[in-house]
Amino acid sequence: DEDPRVTRIKRSIRVVPDFPKPGIMFQDITTLLLDPQAFKDTVDMFVERYKDKNISVVAARAGEDRNPTLEFPITESLAGIEARGFIFGPPIALATGAKFVPLRKPKKLPGEVISEEYILEYGRDCLQMHVGAVKAGERALVVDDLIATGGTLCAAMNLLERVGAHVVECACVIELPDLKGRERLNGKPLYVLVESH
Ligand code: PRP
Repeated sequence: DEDPRVTRIKRSIRVVPDFPKPGIMFQDITTLLLDPQAFKDTVDMFVERYKDKNISVVAARAGEDRNPTLEFPITESLAGIEARGFIFGPPIALATGAKFVPLRKPKKLPGEVISEEYILEYGRDCLQMHVGAVKAGERALVVDDLIATGGTLCAAMNLLERVGAHVVECACVIELPDLKGRERLNGKPLYVLVESH
């Protein structure tokens, strides 16, 4: 007895084999965004879950130019399109009355930042957050489109916890459970709408 909204969301995600490299089954959420009902259902499901949880911070990652040399060349315009972490966070923040905090690549944020490095399958990456954006004791939700190995969510949580925030939960549209990313979250709850094997 699956929620019909989940059925629609699942059907709206296009899976592209061997993109951006052989062996990867790419979960393409651009087709979800083309279906206004599926997009609305996605946001609504998160909002329903978090609206009465006293969350004052929604944090998400902008994903421009990760590993550009190892994957595919990313142009300026593609960068905007591919910042998938920023698509779902802001509508959830607006609907729950929380502030939205962007977590970004190095050298993108103009103010004082704290940084968290993390390990990727090949190489390293880094996320930064503005100092002062989140205060100690604030209740935060971390949002991303997808959890694979969990490295990204783990780094995002570390940033928030280092400034004394309480991460209530992580929320993703899609989980790839075979990669066991959940196990990297140190017991922090993770809520996902769709699992993909
Ligand atoms: C994807 C996705 C998550 C991350 C999850 O982003 O949007 O942010 O990978 O992977 P992990 O659980 O193994 O850390 P990607 O690196 O493809 O960047 P993008 O958002 O720039 O496309």
